[in-house]
Amino acid sequence: MSFTADRLLLFGATGDLAQRMLLPSLCALDADGLLSDDLRIVGTARSQMSTAEYRQFARQALEKFLPADRRGGLATFLNRISYVAVDATTIEGYDELATAVGNYDNGLAIFLSTAPSLFEATIAGLDHAGLTKGNVRIGLEKPLGTSLETSQEINDAVARAFSEDRIFRIDHYLGKETVQNLLALRFANLLFEPIWNAKYIDHVQITVAETVGLEGRVAFYDDAGALRDMVQNHMLQLLALVAMEPPTSFDATSVRDEKVKVLRALREVGDAETVTGQYRAGAVSGAAVPGYDDELGKDSSTETFVAIKAHVDNWRWKGVPFYLRTGKRLPERVTEIVIQFRCIPHSIFAGRGATTKPNRLVIGIQPEENVQLSMMAKVPGLDREGLRLRSVPLDIAMPDAFSGTVRRIAYERLLLDLVEGDQTLFVRRDEVEAQWEWIDAIRALWAEAGITPKPYGAGSWGPSAAIALAERDGVSWHDE
Ligand code: BG6
Repeated sequence: MSFTADRLLLFGATGDLAQRMLLPSLCALDADGLLSDDLRIVGTARSQMSTAEYRQFARQALEKFLPADRRGGLATFLNRISYVAVDATTIEGYDELATAVGNYDNGLAIFLSTAPSLFEATIAGLDHAGLTKGNVRIGLEKPLGTSLETSQEINDAVARAFSEDRIFRIDHYLGKETVQNLLALRFANLLFEPIWNAKYIDHVQITVAETVGLEGRVAFYDDAGALRDMVQNHMLQLLALVAMEPPTSFDATSVRDEKVKVLRALREVGDAETVTGQYRAGAVSGAAVPGYDDELGKDSSTETFVAIKAHVDNWRWKGVPFYLRTGKRLPERVTEIVIQFRCIPHSIFAGRGATTKPNRLVIGIQPEENVQLSMMAKVPGLDREGLRLRSVPLDIAMPDAFSGTVRRIAYERLLLDLVEGDQTLFVRRDEVEAQWEWIDAIRALWAEAGITPKPYGAGSWGPSAAIALAERDGVSWHDE
């Protein structure tokens, strides 16, 4: 049933995500007139604070994390917010929370930005206080479990109070404009779809490289590692969007039906198809940084880098490897998808000494938002020394193509969709479970084959074995 919520209940309201992303996104939406006048926001967390103190806390976060030109109407936004301290593990506080939420005539959107270990108790508390009744939907922030089994436990607990059409599982990559643009590129153009298959594509590369290290998330990250922190969710979403069949329409069911088919078609990874790494001391962007163990304060065998050669076992992708890599403390922050096309079947220029390179499509997701297609062109001249061909880029920089449009935070889109009830950019239960199934098998393989992270210097592109993983197939990672 569709409704636009007039109450938003935010768990984890004092957390890092709330400060950096959620409050700034809501404030920016408000400044642009995108929140209904009736919307009231109730923040909750364990810290004892009055509403006035929380508003001050929120103001500081906004001044720090939201550019001044997007903060219009800050006072009006802060006036929407109230705060109630609740210990999510005890049932008592939830009645007070229900009082603060009041009547939600149009509907209530709840967002859990807390540790998943609290989800079950939170759902029980919400249920006890009647906050699961009527028009209520719930947004869940990652990580949704650490394995298929634990994710099923979370999903079961949530399903006891909410039907699937009320559950909004977040993968913030789906809120990124350029990620959505992938669908536009593929399905709003005639050009690519006929050649988007094994006949014309040699391989695909997906890179999510970060320069940051642990960023203070010591315990969480050391438990998770790069595979579960980045591949299980963001990278598999990117892979699914690249590989999926055309959905019949851009709606939640059609898009997610197609993505889940891809996830289920992922072949189990072999032991020569993954490389893991952990960074040692080095330099990133000219600054010396400590190694992972030093940052953590203890020895650890958690991977901060992973590269995988994946296969989608279906007609479209038969024999096309998908090389995935992600890591912390890499030389630059870049998320991109590379579609490497095959060679032309026959060169008419060979007799003139000219060589050709296969076309390549690079979709830059961040920090640059661009689409670049490399094409062969003739180098101008009379060719007395022989014909020369060169690869030149056809380049579309999104910010230039759409100057004057606002560059939004991914959570602006997702929070608005949560309040308004559009699930297209949220992850369905069967998707999460298919993702975990594939990830669990990789972890089992690592344990069985005794695969442990290889060291790499901070500021490098990961262990040399990751380069070899691609090179064995005659492939080099883009831009190394
Ligand atoms: C989060 C991971 O989901 O995504 C972090 O937990 C990572 O470890 C972050 O840094 C990356 O997000 P973005 O939007 O900066 O690419």
